[in-house]
Amino acid sequence: MEKQALAIMKPQIKRIEHYPEMADRLQMHVHETEQQIERLDTILNDMLEKHSGIKDMMLSMGGSMAALSHAVAGDEILKDAFANYAFEHYEIAAYISLTGLCDATGAQNAVSLLEQNLNEERSMASWIEEHIVPTTLRFIDLSAAEETAKR
Ligand SMILES: [Fe+2]
Repeated sequence: MEKQALAIMKPQIKRIEHYPEMADRLQMHVHETEQQIERLDTILNDMLEKHSGIKDMMLSMGGSMAALSHAVAGDEILKDAFANYAFEHYEIAAYISLTGLCDATGAQNAVSLLEQNLNEERSMASWIEEHIVPTTLRFIDLSAAEETAKR
C-alpha cells in the first residue's frame, strides 16, 4: 500500500509546478511514506519470528487504488487532490484495522509504530482537505489566465 502511495505521489510532484505548496507537501509526505515503509519492515521482520497470521494480514493490505491516479487532463491537479484525499483515507482505515489487530494480540511495539504512520496519514489527509478550496480557486484563476492569453 505504501509503495503504491509513492508510485502515485512521485509522478504528481513533477506535474504540478504551478502549485508549489501542494508539491512541497507531497514531497514531505513522500519522505514520511519512506519512513513508514521502514517502520512496516521493522514490524514485518518482528512478525516473522512471532505472529505469522498478522504478517499475512499486513501483506494483504495492499492498496488496489491505482485506478485513482490520474494523468494528462487539464484539471488533473483537482483530480489528483481528490484521489490523494481518498487514498489517505484508505491508508487511515488500513492502519486503524492493523493497529486494532496488533493491540488485541498484544504486539505493543507494532502498535506504536503503526500509530506513528496513522498520525502522519491523518495529518496529510487534513492538509489536503484544507487545500481543496484554495487549489480549486487557483485552478480557476490559472484557467482564466490561459483563456485570456489565447485571445
Ligand atoms: Fe499517506
